[in-house]
Amino acid sequence: MNSLLQHAFNPEEFRREGHKLVDLLSAYLHDCREAAPMPVLPPSEPAEMEKYWQGELKNPGFDLQKYYATLISQANHIHHPRYMGHQVVPPAPMSALTELLEALLNNGMAIYEMGPSATAIERVVLRWLTDRMGFPASAEGVLTSGGSAGNLTGLLAARQAMCGYDIWEGGNRDAEPLALMVSEEAHYSVARAARIMGWGEKGIVKIPIDGNLRADTRALSQNLNQARQKGLRVIAVVGNACTTSTGTYDPLDEMAGFARAEGLWFHVDGAHGGAAAFSEKYSHLVKGIELADSVVIDFHKMMLAPALTTAVLFRNGSHSYETFAQKAEYLLANGKKQAWYDSAGRTLECTKKMLGVKVFAMIKLYGDGIFTEYINTTYDLGQTLAGMLKRESGFELATEPDGNIVCFRYIPPEFRGDADALTAEIRKEIIAEAGFYIVQTRSGGCTYLRVTLMNPFTGISDLEALLVRIRKSGDALAAKY
Ligand SMILES: Cc1ncc(COP(=O)(O)O)c(C=O)c1O
Repeated sequence: MNSLLQHAFNPEEFRREGHKLVDLLSAYLHDCREAAPMPVLPPSEPAEMEKYWQGELKNPGFDLQKYYATLISQANHIHHPRYMGHQVVPPAPMSALTELLEALLNNGMAIYEMGPSATAIERVVLRWLTDRMGFPASAEGVLTSGGSAGNLTGLLAARQAMCGYDIWEGGNRDAEPLALMVSEEAHYSVARAARIMGWGEKGIVKIPIDGNLRADTRALSQNLNQARQKGLRVIAVVGNACTTSTGTYDPLDEMAGFARAEGLWFHVDGAHGGAAAFSEKYSHLVKGIELADSVVIDFHKMMLAPALTTAVLFRNGSHSYETFAQKAEYLLANGKKQAWYDSAGRTLECTKKMLGVKVFAMIKLYGDGIFTEYINTTYDLGQTLAGMLKRESGFELATEPDGNIVCFRYIPPEFRGDADALTAEIRKEIIAEAGFYIVQTRSGGCTYLRVTLMNPFTGISDLEALLVRIRKSGDALAAKY
């Protein structure tokens, strides 16, 4: 046989390099846990980074372990306690380890025969989750690669179930333009799903928000009537649990009641915060989620799994078979038959990763308690930070945080300048120095610093140090703006 192939598939080499890689990653985890001095996000420019890797590609030598070490050194260090940026979880190491097995076995599902255990495990994991969310026994779900794909999957099911004709076969009818209702604070993937379905901008009816950035349920009826008067056929209302920008939970129970009264599908985007259901302390935030027709929950946000693993849950499981009703004779011989074990019939993906396997390992290793502990720790940290911000002079919260996303800004004493420009510049300085990773957002027409406390090992001393650092930049930069 070809010697390159012999070399590439050498089990002994895999063992040797694999052990070295696990040692390297273990040392890295130690460094992160102990907050060893390292830039959280090593500063770099895209063009510079591309040039470096172009150079490496041309370089005749290659050392695999050096390559791994370089990748670690160039990474955004999600496991570092001073990473407080976007909503990406530091994955539980055993969850990541299980992914290695998934990658090598490559039982990519689509049909049962291509992933027997992964198919069954997906179903078992989804049943576990529907139970935890308070769904009835008729509920079913699918795992999909990410919340964006999950929202699209849920809303495609809504379209098929609610439009009153076989839209999958016949396509959209121009005379009956379809639409969904969602607050302007929703993640863009909801609006994108409407556009992918061909509804355009007019297919997104924006629910006004109240002073706390929640969907204003008092406005729902009027909103719906106005849309109907414009000739739109609203088929779904979408609740945020929570919003991406400020982490605000919509009043799901009220929205569910409205949807039921009006004969609308109720979809909940719980990509980030649906997991609050695991916490007795915070489950009030998702009250009403159990009444939704479809719910999206990302395991790679608040459930400690590496990206991407998303659950799409359907209250009435049969809807999950209608979404993609197309036949592919070579693969899906069952066509419209409800074969739960042929996952390609129910998801966007044909081949997909063995998504449920790492979740199963987490449940068995640590039980539900790990998710409760994670939500409580990170959401408590959000409350702690909000309390500190209220006590410190010059800091302003964008809104009271519900969970672990906290948006705020620093206005130095006597400052009368451009607060948005100052806020953006403070973040720039902090990122350049790389002692913390934080992001920014716009809310109510203002720019805010945005912190998502994803790392359960972030401590109060880290939060205090962040505020000191922000104040230092703000005071020094104030005169420029
Ligand atoms: C509320 C919400 N929904 C959906 C998504 C999209 O999820 P994904 O990045 O997994 O596609 C995000 C991502 O941040 C989100 O915050």
